[in-house]
Amino acid sequence: MPETESIRALTGHDAAAWSQIRLEALDREPAAFGSSAEEHRALPHETVLSRLAHSPEKFVLGAFHGDRLIGTAGFYRDTSLKGRHKGHVWGVYVTRDFRGRGIARALMNALIDRAATVPGLEQILISVASGQAAAKQLYLSLGFEPFGCEPRALKMAGLTSMKTTCCSELPAHPLECGHYFG
Ligand SMILES: CC(C)(COP(=O)(O)OP(=O)(O)OC[C@H]1O[C@@H](n2cnc3c(N)ncnc32)[C@H](O)[C@@H]1OP(=O)(O)O)[C@@H](O)C(=O)NCCC(=O)NCCS
Repeated sequence: MPETESIRALTGHDAAAWSQIRLEALDREPAAFGSSAEEHRALPHETVLSRLAHSPEKFVLGAFHGDRLIGTAGFYRDTSLKGRHKGHVWGVYVTRDFRGRGIARALMNALIDRAATVPGLEQILISVASGQAAAKQLYLSLGFEPFGCEPRALKMAGLTSMKTTCCSELPAHPLECGHYFG
């Protein structure tokens, strides 16, 4: 990633910029995301603020070119007792003019580094819609392994697309048979 760009966790102060780039993502790349632009436009401001309220277990990273927000990657930890070892990635997006410069890779590496500090977190999951070749290639190159396909996961204007879910084990937690309970 060029030195002119930086990455940090977004806060409520970034609400307007995040809303704008999220809307751009949902409008321009509707096939890539489970949420829709209509749903995003209807979000109450409090919901936007709560999405951006960050902790080690829940955060949205933003990539900046100067002051301009040009990319995002979100993370949250499962809150259930039996799912707390898992985290989920959402909202990975880089605005078109800045693609191909390593920004998404830098966002994902920063996200994984932060997630790896969460005690008890063992694996990170991400779902990618069919057709999102760049995203899929990125996740594979970061060590995410596809393990399941959901047919007709997304339906838009009568057309359906499949989602592949990929998993990455955090380094301290490689999968071993003994870890399963059957
Ligand atoms: C996927 C996306 C975030 C990648 O952003 P980016 O900043 O251009 O990605 P990077 O420059 O960091 O590239 C990282 C890796 O992604 C893959 N990649 C990027 N662009 C690619 C392309 N056009 N074709 C194939 N692979 C590509 C490569 O593996 C690349 O690594 P390499 O440069 O070492 O070969 C961006 O294309 C995007 O926002 N797409 C639309 C939204 C989307 O699909 N989001 C994912 C939802 S799950």
